[in-house]
Amino acid sequence: MTRAGAPIIVVGGGVAGLATALALAPRPVRLLCRANQGSDTASALAQGGIAAAVDRADSSDAHALDTLVAGARHNDAAMVRWLCRQAPAAIGWLEAQGVGFDRDAAGRLQLGREGGHRASRIVHAGGDASGAAITRGLRRRAQHAWHIQWRSDVDVQALRLRGGTVDGVRVLDSRGRRHDMDARAVVLATGGIGALFARTSNPAGANGSGLALAMAAGARLRDIEFVQFHPTALDIAGGHCLPLITEALRGAGARLQDGPGRPLMAGLHPLEDLAPRDVVARRVAQAQRTDGGAWLDARDLDSDWERCFPTVLAACLAHGIDPRRQRIPVTAAAHFHMGGVAVDADGRSSVAGLYAVGEVACNGVHGANRLASNSLLEGVLCGRRVGESLARLPRSTVPAGAHHWVGRGAELPPAESAALRDLLWQAAGPERDAAGLKSALQTCAAWRKDGWQAQLAHCLLTAALQRDRSLGAHYRTDAT
Ligand code: SIN
Repeated sequence: MTRAGAPIIVVGGGVAGLATALALAPRPVRLLCRANQGSDTASALAQGGIAAAVDRADSSDAHALDTLVAGARHNDAAMVRWLCRQAPAAIGWLEAQGVGFDRDAAGRLQLGREGGHRASRIVHAGGDASGAAITRGLRRRAQHAWHIQWRSDVDVQALRLRGGTVDGVRVLDSRGRRHDMDARAVVLATGGIGALFARTSNPAGANGSGLALAMAAGARLRDIEFVQFHPTALDIAGGHCLPLITEALRGAGARLQDGPGRPLMAGLHPLEDLAPRDVVARRVAQAQRTDGGAWLDARDLDSDWERCFPTVLAACLAHGIDPRRQRIPVTAAAHFHMGGVAVDADGRSSVAGLYAVGEVACNGVHGANRLASNSLLEGVLCGRRVGESLARLPRSTVPAGAHHWVGRGAELPPAESAALRDLLWQAAGPERDAAGLKSALQTCAAWRKDGWQAQLAHCLLTAALQRDRSLGAHYRTDAT
């Protein structure tokens, strides 16, 4: 195949990558995933559903306002308006792709409520298994789409630049063999950075590998200090990638308590247990330090656990906790990266030929703190938008001349990786201050030559130090 006829390469098999690949039809697409067809993605683990103002009493303006308030108005307002207006149509599109959303006996969509939403507007599929159901539906479509060629179990290690334009990737397969592939354009849909922190709700693969590639190519990054911490992951001693305990449980009436059983959120925020995530996450972290831990009491819920919360039920039972009879120990955990590769509304980065979509990208829609259940929505809508816009890319213009490769470089050795995760958790977790950030920066500077994870962490710590005021999920205890 000539480079002019090369496929568009999409890296990542989560919802954003799948939606991009599907929308690119009829252009040839090569979809590259690390694990078996994207089965280890954060999308597949997502328990919250999709926020959409589908109720007659609700409106996309109200959804947009909640998004802006959660984002501390650091959002791109035009992107927010677009996302919220398109949300009901996204539900229709997903249904047309074969995703079955939960409905009541009269056939109406069942609407749940999560933190920061002033209305019940969360649509679920399979209860708290929404991400898995949506990913499965889109994957099935993509598997049958003739324009998409899958390549699983490969890790993209480098990008090829020719005349300042990305026109290829270098991958390593599971047997350690290297392959170079031509690309008409490359779309990163590689997810977030939660796994760089000691406690996360993300899978191990969400370690910022795509962000590091974009950095190596010289792409502009944006808002990289904004990391959302979820207040309720299952608190497993010594655990790193922890099962999420969905906020929908609090939407259904479960309550946070400290060790002795006192309500954790009483009097702290008008929305109490459903206050924005950063507020709840900080309170949970504090209770873990001083109040005998943080616990979620879901024993009085009158929901059907098997139907509404099968994922939480299974995760708790697997760790010897029956949430119908026992309180659930919870911890704050890195959950979502609002920052990322700076892109425009069509996913274009500052480097020609390089695009980004979903959590690895930052188009400004989430501001300083993402509203609950807006991420699968963004993955679907922005994925489709990026795919549709790339499908219009002329086929014939390819850069000429010599090329060079830019790669992430060496991986940090396992012991240093673990130390880096602790360092980021302590210094750049739910609470930050200048002294902690400066000291972490010094430690991290010494590790930078050893691996790309330390370089990325250095960038995040620098941005967190420079933003010397609290905003959204970035909370500075020394200058609120
Ligand atoms: C949750 O179910 O609590 C998480 C939902 C989300 O991250 O939007």
